[in-house]
Amino acid sequence: METTLIILKPDAVQRGLIGRIIGRFEEKGLQVVGLKLMRISPDLAARHYESHQGKPFYDGLVKFMTSSPVVVMALRGVGAIAICRKLMGATFGSNAEPGTIRGDFGVSNSFNLVHGSDASESAARELELFFGAGEIQELDRAIEGWVYDISSGEPE
Ligand code: RTP
Ligand code: MG
Repeated sequence: METTLIILKPDAVQRGLIGRIIGRFEEKGLQVVGLKLMRISPDLAARHYESHQGKPFYDGLVKFMTSSPVVVMALRGVGAIAICRKLMGATFGSNAEPGTIRGDFGVSNSFNLVHGSDASESAARELELFFGAGEIQELDRAIEGWVYDISSGEPE
């Protein structure tokens, strides 16, 4: 099982798309294990996007991410990181495939609705930035044996 950090960016919250976007992840079978509405501080945005510091879009990105509240989520599943990235679609709304979150709900390149961790190291780092001790739940889902084939003892 992997856990990944998803952020519903300020445009998703302002446009009233929280429920529909969370629904995309839930209906795929991913488990919500952490969830909160918060305002990202400039310091937190800088730490979260530290790999982009110095790039031409960096200042605008931090300004956008701190402009209005976001929803942060911890999502868990087998291969959750890659699955979430596929559900999100390509970075720019203008060329994200229909059927993806960015492809279906946006046209802008900068206001692209959603963030998802891109690797296991970044997921671990980002989850620690956004969730404190006790804020991520360990819960058994009653439907687990219908979401996954667990007949071998491992979900697959
Ligand atoms: P994210 O980190 O938000 O999940 O997005 P991503 O992996 O698909 O894209 P990334 O390369 O990490 O870029 C982070 C965010 O910066 C903005 N961006 N603007 N104008 C540009 O060339 C440009 N490139 C990136 C986007 O908001 C992107 O989500
Ligand atoms: Mg990224």
